[in-house]
Amino acid sequence: MPTDDADLFRTAACVVGGYMADDEAALRTVAALEAFDVYVRDLIAARRAAPQPDLISDLVTAEGDEQPLTEDELVSMVDIVLFGGYEPSAQLIGNALLALLQHSDQLAALRADPTLLTAAVEEALRYDGPVTPGLSRYALEDVEIGGTTIPKGSYVMVGTAAANRDPEHWPDPGTFDITRPATARSLGFGHGLHYCVGARLAALEVETVIATALRRYPRLRLAVPAEDLVYRQGSVRGVREIPLRVG
Ligand code: HEM
Repeated sequence: MPTDDADLFRTAACVVGGYMADDEAALRTVAALEAFDVYVRDLIAARRAAPQPDLISDLVTAEGDEQPLTEDELVSMVDIVLFGGYEPSAQLIGNALLALLQHSDQLAALRADPTLLTAAVEEALRYDGPVTPGLSRYALEDVEIGGTTIPKGSYVMVGTAAANRDPEHWPDPGTFDITRPATARSLGFGHGLHYCVGARLAALEVETVIATALRRYPRLRLAVPAEDLVYRQGSVRGVREIPLRVG
């Protein structure tokens, strides 16, 4: 996506992130999505006419055994990479930083041993991940899970955020503990066929910001009581802003 158009995207992403707040916000979201849809379709048409060395051109010109993507599939793929690639990563940066600043023992452990960084971000994803309450599914046939039949055609919300605090799987699930074993993967990036394609990139982004902030600001701390932080209304969990003291 051309860098000059980043503001257009950021505005749409911001509105989309808040779509569940109220009716007025829902209408704003529809308008923003419609405008963005026109923009993406134009972008696809431009890449179709003159391919560039970028992902959209690759998707448009994809060949092989598979059927080419339809126009609607292309648009939704571009949307999910753009929106899915931005908002959850942005919010996990805040959630991870907040979890560390609220648990001084864990922050001290990380400062003492920077090799814990990957595990710390993984734990932040489990403890306070941005994808809440979970993932949407649509039952294509009757499915039985734990003795309950989910009828064909039902919309299902899979509560991955609850699974990430399942006491049968996680000892002390409500404790933020960056020394949990690396094998104990959460469902924060999904599972199976649709597992997040950007998982490693996202973790790298969050790790980079946290590592840089901690290195640059040895006295980094919250500037307000945690109770005063305001959570965004919407599908991607995160706070509106985190006032910090650095000196
Ligand atoms: C902290 C950041 C992120 C989180 C928590 C996250 C979470 C998720 C989750 C839970 C899914 C599974 C959705 C489902 O099963 O219905 C998913 C899928 C996906 N994510 Fe991410 N994601 C993040 C960052 C990214 C980034 C950086 C990109 C791309 C640059 C990305 C692209 C995608 C795409 C394209 C899918 C769909 C995969 C498919 O349906 O096969 N995500 N993500």
